[in-house]
Amino acid sequence: MTRIFSGVQPTGNLHLGNYLGAIRNFARLQDGNDCLYCVVDMHAITVWQDPAELKKNTREVTAAFLAAGVDPIDNIVFNQSQVPQHAELAWIFNCVARMGWLNRMTQFKEKAGKHRENASVGLYVYPNLMAADILAYKATHVPVGEDQKQHLELTRDVAQKFNNDFGEEFFPIVEPLILDSAARVMSLRDGTKKMSKSDESDYSRINLTDDPETIELKIRKARTDPDPVPDGSPEGGTRENRPEAFNLMEIFGALTDQTIADVQRDYGGQQFSAFKRAVTEVAVEKLGPMGLEMQRLMADPGYVDSVLAGGVKRAKEIAGPILDDVYRIVGFLR
Ligand code: AMP
Ligand code: TRP
Repeated sequence: MTRIFSGVQPTGNLHLGNYLGAIRNFARLQDGNDCLYCVVDMHAITVWQDPAELKKNTREVTAAFLAAGVDPIDNIVFNQSQVPQHAELAWIFNCVARMGWLNRMTQFKEKAGKHRENASVGLYVYPNLMAADILAYKATHVPVGEDQKQHLELTRDVAQKFNNDFGEEFFPIVEPLILDSAARVMSLRDGTKKMSKSDESDYSRINLTDDPETIELKIRKARTDPDPVPDGSPEGGTRENRPEAFNLMEIFGALTDQTIADVQRDYGGQQFSAFKRAVTEVAVEKLGPMGLEMQRLMADPGYVDSVLAGGVKRAKEIAGPILDDVYRIVGFLR
């Protein structure tokens, strides 16, 4: 059976990009695979998190997994900080990965911005913790959005170097699972920027907890250009010169399981006002019930915490023996 691992940070504002790029695929992959889905709270604190908000957001991401259809009995659903093996393996990887590798990480450069000297050391070594998340279970497949590709390449490099250094084929070389065209959902305000939890404008994203009126308003106000919906002809334009138009078509395609060509065939040449109504309808139909289920689960934190506790126990049973082997390979006395 293939072992799958993925993680989502509890940093608030879960949005349509998180759903289409990652969480939706978690439920789709659960049949026939051995899956671990993790709320990565230790990654979250690489930038400042208010402690009370962090707790709430950890439950919210868990609720999103469940509301998206992840079965916590068939899969292991848990939060990272309760399984100490993640931090333990991350330390080993801090000693395996090279500074030069981390210096190339574009996400660090984006997040640290101009104030690099002020970024936390945790933010810098973030990819090593991510490699540890995956390899503590020897997972081989990782469903993520496109923005995580570079981090997964680093995970492969870390595994390879560990195996070479210690002369043992111990860790597998992971494969990213970047599943569909919605692997990169763009902002509703600017089609050249990805939809993000941290964008100041709430109008840039559709949150998974938005009610139907809010979803409708955000899609109606989404930026487009004056031309009709692209129809696939050269005059209809390209993703490069009409990024907002193509983003809405990709969102619609992903929500209805259709290709861009299908969407162009059905809506090409129409006015955006009409197409936006179609996008709103499917977005409300798909996200509405999920948002309600998330709210229902959030109102029962005892249940959510018990799901996490069950996952933690099972995660430790897998990661514990793997860490014992790592310590033996490294030469730590046990
Ligand atoms: P994060 O919010 O950074 O913890 O991301 C959680 C998951 O959502 C990761 O697999 C990301 O690749 C994915 N993701 C985040 N933003 C987007 C986006 N705009 N489009 C597609 N996937 C995304
Ligand atoms: N870095 C990922 C993100 O920002 C979250 C993450 C942490 C993750 N550990 C992981 C994703 C392990 C996949 C596997 O989206």
